Amino acid sequence: MAFLSDRLARVKPSPTIAMTTRAAELRAQGRDIIGLSAGEPDFDTPAHIRDAAKAAIDAGHTRYTAVDGTPSLKRAIVAKFARENGLDYHPGQITVGTGGKQILFNAFMATLDEGDEVIVPAPYWVSYPDMVVLAGGRPVTVACGQDQGFRLTAEALRDAITPRTKWLILNSPSNPSGAGYDRDQMRALTDVLLDHPQVRVLTDDIYEHLVFDDFRFCTPAEVEPRLKDRVLTMNGVSKSYAMTGWRIGYGAGPEDLIRAMAKVQSQSTSNPCSVSQYAAEAALNGPQDYIRDSRAVFQRRRDLVVAGLNACPGLDCPVPQGAFYVYPSMAGLIGRRSAGGALIDGDEAFANALLDETGVAVVFGAAFGLSPHFRISYATSDAVLADAVARIRAFCEGCN
Ligand SMILES: Cc1ncc(COP(=O)(O)O)c(C=O)c1O
Repeated sequence: MAFLSDRLARVKPSPTIAMTTRAAELRAQGRDIIGLSAGEPDFDTPAHIRDAAKAAIDAGHTRYTAVDGTPSLKRAIVAKFARENGLDYHPGQITVGTGGKQILFNAFMATLDEGDEVIVPAPYWVSYPDMVVLAGGRPVTVACGQDQGFRLTAEALRDAITPRTKWLILNSPSNPSGAGYDRDQMRALTDVLLDHPQVRVLTDDIYEHLVFDDFRFCTPAEVEPRLKDRVLTMNGVSKSYAMTGWRIGYGAGPEDLIRAMAKVQSQSTSNPCSVSQYAAEAALNGPQDYIRDSRAVFQRRRDLVVAGLNACPGLDCPVPQGAFYVYPSMAGLIGRRSAGGALIDGDEAFANALLDETGVAVVFGAAFGLSPHFRISYATSDAVLADAVARIRAFCEGCN
């Protein structure tokens, strides 16, 4: 009898961690490495949020709380959904967990039986398929190429649905592509879902506030109110308020699902950190200037990176609607050799040679289920980005 479970054996080791480890090894050898793989804002949490956490500690809010969130944080989340998304929830339809990640995990653990299918449009956030597998489900990936803006189409969704489909995962704006669904594109999907009552939607709205130009964020329950009882809307404070380390995410959905998710959480971590819940409440109820300011910074960086990459021979970088990632194609370099002699036969070889020869660490597209691409996170300073883009350009110009 094997000690480790079959279920765990089906989970892939993370290729993003492999790249990060390799970059760390090179840095330890004294190499000048630029890491462009971080999935978090490079800013500090705003002062009023930090102050609220300190006040919570001093007021003695250091004990267990209700399993899936304090009543006052749930009220702040209800108000957020009403104010920003036009969605009417009551506290019994809200759950709070240790990051958006735990909300997703709870939902899959609470609902998936062996063989249940979850549609995962690719490129996807690396955790989705493996979380589904851990919960006993079967991820059904659907390739959404650059030619369709990295978005799932109504036809592809219709083709992917089977009688075993339990969930569709949507993530707009997306990690890794930055692609967002506008209202019409979202409606095309919700129209299909109206015909398939067994399919629920798990929408990961964590990058809601990081949208650029005139792109307007929308979310399925708001676009199609008739689906509201079949949608779990996931969000959190990590990316919107530079609070990745505080670990607070939340979800809104039908009460029976929310209760089932609390049951999972009650037997794993219990409540999310009490102090962090007070900080999240201050984030949601307090001034929202940080969102506007960080959006302007990220848009400027996006423009810098997109222009720089499109000047590199062999690369083609679409303009994303949001998040802080770009997902360029490196198809134009396939079959060439780098100046250091590496054969570039795909995105993994490209990322490895780029790291070895220039010290720039990116994540290859196969990790996100769609090649031949790579992901750059531009959540770092303009100066570092300019240096990275110059090195990538020299690398591409050196390929022949
Ligand atoms: C698409 C997506 N969803 C969810 C998360 C998890 O966020 P949290 O910090 O709330 O767990 C991330 C973090 O990288 C993400 O990129």
